[in-house]
Amino acid sequence: MIYAQILAGGKGTRMGNVPMPKQFLTLAGKPILIHTVEKFVLESRFDAILVVCPADWLSHTQEIIRKYISDQRVHVVTGGNERNETLMKGINYLQQHYPRHDDDVIITHDAVRPFITQRIINDNIEAALVHPAVDTVVAAIDTIVQGTDDQASAIPVRANMYQGQTPQSFNIKALVTAYQKLTASQKASLSDSCKICLLAGQPVTLVRGESFNFKITTPYDLRVASALVEKRD
Ligand code: CTP
Repeated sequence: MIYAQILAGGKGTRMGNVPMPKQFLTLAGKPILIHTVEKFVLESRFDAILVVCPADWLSHTQEIIRKYISDQRVHVVTGGNERNETLMKGINYLQQHYPRHDDDVIITHDAVRPFITQRIINDNIEAALVHPAVDTVVAAIDTIVQGTDDQASAIPVRANMYQGQTPQSFNIKALVTAYQKLTASQKASLSDSCKICLLAGQPVTLVRGESFNFKITTPYDLRVASALVEKRD
């Protein structure tokens, strides 16, 4: 089985003073989340598409999915406090509602990356069917400087640096096995899902993203996204 999971469980604090988590803000007349879900329903190979949202936004999410999306494969589920908790809640839902197979895969994507393409979704599916973990990346454009407290500790060779995007895609059995090996503090502190697999010693395969597959995080990003949609229309 091939599943998709749209991660929409965040608070969006870096968006500043807005009335709702950023995934529900309007972009070109409809919620950002809806733009993203529309890209996923175009892929006929998905057996189910989960939208995982904050608990107190469950009825709102169900309402907008009903309003804009008619595809019966889409299910709304409650997420968790941390991003990886949200991911695992989606997987728990699948394990409770669908039969399990060793070769089941899941394509997980940030709700706030609405400019994902069918090519990126397809590359993730193809790679996840043969590799345990897949990350979508673009080559770093700026030099990456590592450091803390105003002090640089390393400046890695830029040619070896990438910026991580989503989808991140997994063989579900391999991901659950890797997650179970983490300590409680690792589970709480990990902001990246592919790192779950790296820490467990599993390889992570890279597929090519796109610069326009950016994450809407700040008010500036939302302005850029609006300009891109207007240009396209
Ligand atoms: N996400 C999630 N569950 C969480 C936290 C984040 O599903 N507990 C999702 C967000 O909804 C978003 C994606 O993961 O689609 C990337 O999250 P990010 O922008 O890094 O975090 P947010 O909590 O949404 O925003 P901020 O860090 O600004 O508060």
